[in-house]
Amino acid sequence: MFDATPDGHVDAGRLRPPPLPPAGMRDEVLAGLLATPKTLSPKYFYDERGSRLFERICRLPEYYPTVTETAILSDRRAEIADTLGRRAAIVEYGSGSSEKIRILLDALDDPAAYVPVDISRRHLEQSAARLASAYPGLPIHPLAADFTQAFSLPDLPGRPVGFFPGSTIGNFTPGQAAAFLKTAGRTLGPGSTFVVGFDLVKDRTVLETAYNDSQGVTAAFNLNALAHLNRELGCDFPLDAFAHVAWFNPKESRIEMHLKARHPLTVRVAGAVVRFREGETIHTENSYKYTPARIRALAAGAGWTVRRLWTDARPWFAVVALSR
Ligand code: AVI
Repeated sequence: MFDATPDGHVDAGRLRPPPLPPAGMRDEVLAGLLATPKTLSPKYFYDERGSRLFERICRLPEYYPTVTETAILSDRRAEIADTLGRRAAIVEYGSGSSEKIRILLDALDDPAAYVPVDISRRHLEQSAARLASAYPGLPIHPLAADFTQAFSLPDLPGRPVGFFPGSTIGNFTPGQAAAFLKTAGRTLGPGSTFVVGFDLVKDRTVLETAYNDSQGVTAAFNLNALAHLNRELGCDFPLDAFAHVAWFNPKESRIEMHLKARHPLTVRVAGAVVRFREGETIHTENSYKYTPARIRALAAGAGWTVRRLWTDARPWFAVVALSR
């Protein structure tokens, strides 16, 4: 029923031409899958379905980061507001559904503006509209941009304060995290503050359970990256030939997520052939876990100082106010 075009795309009976993959996607995906070991960027988790699965992950009983960070923001909101001062103009990196920011906006002394930055314009528009009706006097300037790259802020009525919750910084290698913090420092400007959420090193079982939940939502999220490639690049990954695996790598201080081939197989990827041995994996994500000392070292190397570091009692998660 499905025919392959000469460049390897698959379309339904050649009724319509295959959609063009986003620029660079084909080359980037192929380079990772032809490398040893095989890798795939975690950005391919986040299509429509993947974003919904991630929202479900955040509500899972095993996935402690979201609930723990939210509790820290809420319990420490007065101290956080005090640290950020009057007329903060909040620039949220990867704002998504803009839920956690409400805790800060409710606590801050006369916030000057809110700038949600997200690559997904649709997400931005929806969440900015919801926030505008909840905070009628607050100027909101949505910015559709890749927040890992430098971008220019609009003229803001107050002092820029960055906000990067969710421990998404943990999905960068330490080198990428340092580069990101340097770039953010240039964007936010001298004298700015940056509030960042970091997941902390803890008991290995707690960590591994959070990434191997009993309902299989994280497994579905990981496998969805292959469904995304099948759709966007016309690949033919059989999803049931791969298993979700995740473990803590203590040497690198990170959770690694992989997709493991259950048996030898061959997959067509955008005109090329990719072979898998039984047990071979595609490394799909790193999630680095920090200690307060490593957070301080990372910040210092990127031109920031840790001004305050708030944790829960266990302590499993840290919300950090950096200044420069
Ligand atoms: C988005 N990021 C902080 C999540 C994490 O924990 O690294 C992504 C995730 N991967 C599996 N579960 C959640």
